[in-house]
Amino acid sequence: MATPLILDCDPGHDDALAILLAVADPAVSLRAVTTVAGNQTVDKCTLNARRVLSLAGVTSVPVARGADRPLVRPLRIADDVHGGTGLDGPTFTGSPSVPESELPAQELLADVLRTPATVVATGALTNIARLITESPEAAANITEIVWMGGSTDRGNIAPLAEANAYVDPEAADLVVRSGIPFTMCGLNVTHRALVTPDVLERLARIGTPLAGICAEWMTFFASTYTRLFGFEFPPLHDPVAVARVIDPAIVACVDANLVIETAGQWTAGATVVDLDGYTGRSPNARIAVALDREAFWNRLLTAISVC
Ligand code: BDR
Ligand code: CA
Repeated sequence: MATPLILDCDPGHDDALAILLAVADPAVSLRAVTTVAGNQTVDKCTLNARRVLSLAGVTSVPVARGADRPLVRPLRIADDVHGGTGLDGPTFTGSPSVPESELPAQELLADVLRTPATVVATGALTNIARLITESPEAAANITEIVWMGGSTDRGNIAPLAEANAYVDPEAADLVVRSGIPFTMCGLNVTHRALVTPDVLERLARIGTPLAGICAEWMTFFASTYTRLFGFEFPPLHDPVAVARVIDPAIVACVDANLVIETAGQWTAGATVVDLDGYTGRSPNARIAVALDREAFWNRLLTAISVC
């Protein structure tokens, strides 16, 4: 049976492809898309989520607007990475056909979570932290949270912090400490999901208008990753978390203790993963450590081809 899934995201180029994977892969059944401020303002992220679903012709999945800022810190957007729209590259005119839900994200999450579902989060964990605090009975129906965020190594927005952790460390801390089964797919693994020329060739061979748009998104994403980070090819972070739910064998994990730094003067948002058992603290999370790159791209490109 397909795993019921909620995708909480901040589209975002890699979030956009995470949505397409969640929409089209038969191993999961996407019940809702909720948005959170991060890569851009929540207004723009919500518009982009609606845009992606509209391009995929998906009208049955509600899109609800979530938090417009982190729990306690000011919002830091990533327009340097994702552009002024949050999804720069191809130009769109007019409104997407998929509407925004009348329910705010918190209410839609509580509604969908009247029955158990897995949550994939590909942005800051603000919405999920608020749900745990404000609707504990709904949060109790979260089977697992699979998060693209953090790193076992270094960061990408601060020396020791990955962007989704850095934007709202207090939320990440609350979620990790909630006791809900938690899997972290960090940069140490997502930096292996590189959009190499062979991937772009396979996208081109799909030949649909949507695949063409994906290629344009990837070309923009490549340009910012080269300019800002010196990457030859851009890493497609967010679909890795969806792929972990689709087939756990694609993203190998180990059990380890994870804590989120919130108080550090220079290290807020650091994800402190005790892979070596130095601390004696019990494992409280699954930590992604390896990616089956071939299986990952097969799954994602197949999803795009059937959208
Ligand atoms: C994460 O930050 C965002 O820019 C991406 O969408 C991804 O979720 C990578 O650090
Ligand atoms: Ca994201």
